[in-house]
Amino acid sequence: MNNPSLNTHWMPFTPNKGFKASPRMLTGAKGMHWITDDNRQVLDMTAGLWCCNAGHGNPHIAEAIARQARELDYAPCFGFGHPLAFELSERLAHLAPGNLNRVFYTNSGSESVETALKMALAYHHARGEAGRQLFIGRERGYHGVNFGGIAVGGITNNYKAFGQWLPTDHLSHTQDLRRNAFSRGLPLHGGIDMANELEKLIRLHDASRIAAVIIEPISGAGGVLPPPVGYLQRIREICDQHGILLIFDEVICGFGRTGEAFASQTFQVQPDIMTTAKGLTNGAAPMGAVLAGDHVYDAVMEASASGVEFFHGYTYSAHPLACAAAMATLDVYEQDGLYQRGDADGEISQYFERGLHSLKGLPGVIDIRNYSLIAAVEFDAPAGTDIQAMAWEQGLMLRSLGNAIAMSPPLILEKEHVDQTVGILERCIRQHFK
Ligand SMILES: Cc1ncc(COP(=O)(O)O)c(C=O)c1O
Repeated sequence: MNNPSLNTHWMPFTPNKGFKASPRMLTGAKGMHWITDDNRQVLDMTAGLWCCNAGHGNPHIAEAIARQARELDYAPCFGFGHPLAFELSERLAHLAPGNLNRVFYTNSGSESVETALKMALAYHHARGEAGRQLFIGRERGYHGVNFGGIAVGGITNNYKAFGQWLPTDHLSHTQDLRRNAFSRGLPLHGGIDMANELEKLIRLHDASRIAAVIIEPISGAGGVLPPPVGYLQRIREICDQHGILLIFDEVICGFGRTGEAFASQTFQVQPDIMTTAKGLTNGAAPMGAVLAGDHVYDAVMEASASGVEFFHGYTYSAHPLACAAAMATLDVYEQDGLYQRGDADGEISQYFERGLHSLKGLPGVIDIRNYSLIAAVEFDAPAGTDIQAMAWEQGLMLRSLGNAIAMSPPLILEKEHVDQTVGILERCIRQHFK
């Protein structure tokens, strides 16, 4: 069927009626570009949905998936294993910081989050502290769309029709436009005070009831908010003082976005549990992985004498095709030096930063912020959707976040792509605010 009806596909996070009136169809992708159904090339400044960090259509990844499909297309993972899953776990544990040596596979970021939350509960339960059932998330945090994730998340639209079914409270978000607007890299002001708000929440709820704090090192879908200096370190200290686990949701930050494999390495703060997905397979196969500290794993293992220790898992956990995609993706990241390409002081990150910040002073622009190769431009009105649509017409894909547009380009980005982006963005902003 070359021209299928658009009626039957209920599209996720999409204005369905709007899309169906004016569809934007992607039919191919290569390197930094999409190909559309009307044969246009569109520059991808979002790495798909923050996931195609090595760019599109990498032949090594494609071949690995095809080979695996011929060799072992599926393997049940409850009570059975296949070697690639163990090989990949070793590789991820080696890559991850500190004692994050235990790898649990999921199929998405949302599932990684649910898994991490359950691990935290299981850990406390195993240690005789089953009263620790409450989670602290953060305003504007995004942790996927399952019931746990929307409860700890802090984006109202994501839960207002569905409820918040986990016991939660939330830290304030870390945006401070008055003091930190137009920050390049980490914002300088307010980090310690913002983190100290956690102490207030602990006094309110009591540490004996709190299982974990879950935050993104850099808040992504909530607006691209790099952590102010000292914030993450202070959150870690307070968690340690009160026996509270710290979960870093690195579904966006992981796999090179901040100049190291993981943001916890860039910012030198060690979480107890880390969620990943997206860049793990370069978006080429659905897969997530939760990396748990040895102490978390050991506590859960030691609590049961025999039988299943952790009553959790997915039919497609450690799917062979996804494992093959992940192994090949890690090869590409390593061989092409892509983790380092996101280094905040590196040439391309600096060029990207300078290019974007040159838009300061344009009408409607109230903030430009970035850490390395993740950035947002914020407006004084909800201009994101309109600017995204205009940019698309001019050959550029951006992500709209309401009052802002976000960028997280593939790490293979070159200077010419930055120049093109800045040029189109400037035209679109001037057109919108004229
Ligand atoms: C930080 C974070 N956590 C979780 C998710 C959910 O991932 P998925 O859409 O794969 O379920 C996302 C998706 O953008 C994310 O940014």
